[in-house]
Amino acid sequence: MRNKKVFIKTFGCQMNEYDSNRIYDNVSNLGFVKTEDQANAECYILNTCHIRDKAKEKVYHEIGRIKKLYRDKKKPIMIVAGCVAQAENDEMLKREPYIDIVIGPQAYHKINNLLKKHELKKKQEETEFDTISKFRYFDKISNNNNKISAFLTIQEGCDKFCHFCVVPYTRGPEYSRPFNKIINEAEQLIKNGAKEITLLGQNVNAYSYRENSKEFRISNLIYHLNQYSELERIRYTTSHPKDMSEDLIECYSSCKKLMPLVHLPIQSGSDKILESMNRKHKVEDYIKVYEKLKKINKEVEFSSDFIIGYPGETKKDFEDTYNLIKKIKFINSFSFIFSPRPGTKASKLDMVDENIAKQRLTLVQEKLFNNQIEMNKSMENDIIEVLVENKMKKQNKFFGRNKYISPVIFDGVESHIGKIVKVKIQTSNQNTLFGSVNKNMKAA
Ligand code: SAM
Ligand code: SF4
Ligand code: F3S
Repeated sequence: MRNKKVFIKTFGCQMNEYDSNRIYDNVSNLGFVKTEDQANAECYILNTCHIRDKAKEKVYHEIGRIKKLYRDKKKPIMIVAGCVAQAENDEMLKREPYIDIVIGPQAYHKINNLLKKHELKKKQEETEFDTISKFRYFDKISNNNNKISAFLTIQEGCDKFCHFCVVPYTRGPEYSRPFNKIINEAEQLIKNGAKEITLLGQNVNAYSYRENSKEFRISNLIYHLNQYSELERIRYTTSHPKDMSEDLIECYSSCKKLMPLVHLPIQSGSDKILESMNRKHKVEDYIKVYEKLKKINKEVEFSSDFIIGYPGETKKDFEDTYNLIKKIKFINSFSFIFSPRPGTKASKLDMVDENIAKQRLTLVQEKLFNNQIEMNKSMENDIIEVLVENKMKKQNKFFGRNKYISPVIFDGVESHIGKIVKVKIQTSNQNTLFGSVNKNMKAA
């Protein structure tokens, strides 16, 4: 079969990135080959995100741009995948005739059939939540990702229904993949050269798989992966404070490869707002988890997600969030103004004044960015461990990450790629550390 080119553009979270790679593993069996040239593809896949803002409009805008790119050429097969596809389903086909296929996140096992049927020039839509069949299908297709740092989805969907969030509607109910299938896939990734694996799930620490009356939890996966000598680092994201169980906390003392950055979204520092968000935990519960983790492993640092200007957020509620950030000194965090999402409970509530929300976001981000700057500054002149991912495209430098996932750019050599090397940090800014590998410093 003649090779046909496919271009995949991915928006949103790491789970979408993982999905895009798996979609590619699948369509490559039909003879599609990935291209970096978006203006010359036979198939164009937009893997979309619905989490905030005008997600739907952004997709139509993007398609308008693609139309222009192909104005004088043969139109590519246009596929819209991901969370906007799930939320909008056949509405998209009605509104934008340029789209050929709309496919939701739990239907990716059907994409090859849809592509084969496309020859009939039919518009097609697949948005059924068929998570079990999807993973059974993909378990038989090897994961060809050969990145040093690889993602591995272990859990999908969400049953928590926070009042602001679309994920339960776009990804469907919680599902945990079988333990042995995850391990098989991890072994493929390690064979392909992965030195770091990030376990993924919308509620990753709620992972629970039962077989022969034994329950496997995320802690079991971490212990198991910790044994592979070729694997250097383990991470997981995104977790919920309610599911930070003792066995998972214990991993931070027993599993040397589990990285000490705990990304644990709290959203707000006010119990009143947490209750209105339906978060099912209090600030105090969160602080207890923080204290336990700090006690068990002094290297642990926290990062988080914050929603600012949630309906009903008063000056006092906001100050509670601000003070929590001062107390915990979060690094590497994300903060957003509340965005009302169609179909969610919070979208029916009265919004906080836009200017006030913006002012609050600025204050929070200043504080978070300062924490990050201070953290990075504290590493200047230190020798730190960096997992080297690649050579940079535009400069003769190398790129890697420290244990807290911060980017490190340094002078190195090709043979450092895929290794943990010791880098002396010379300077830093808010986002990045800069340094060089000393020739006398052997890779750790
Ligand atoms: N499962 C994770 C948890 O429980 O925290 C969050 C996953 S969600 C994909 C990622 C982040 O998007 C959330 O932590 C939240 O801060 C943000 N987010 C979700 N819905 C939002 C909304 N309507 N407006 C603003 N931010 C939102
Ligand atoms: Fe969304 Fe996370 Fe809440 Fe689930 S737990 S509804 S994914 S914010
Ligand atoms: Fe976005 Fe869907 Fe991920 S809405 S954040 S792509 S789960």
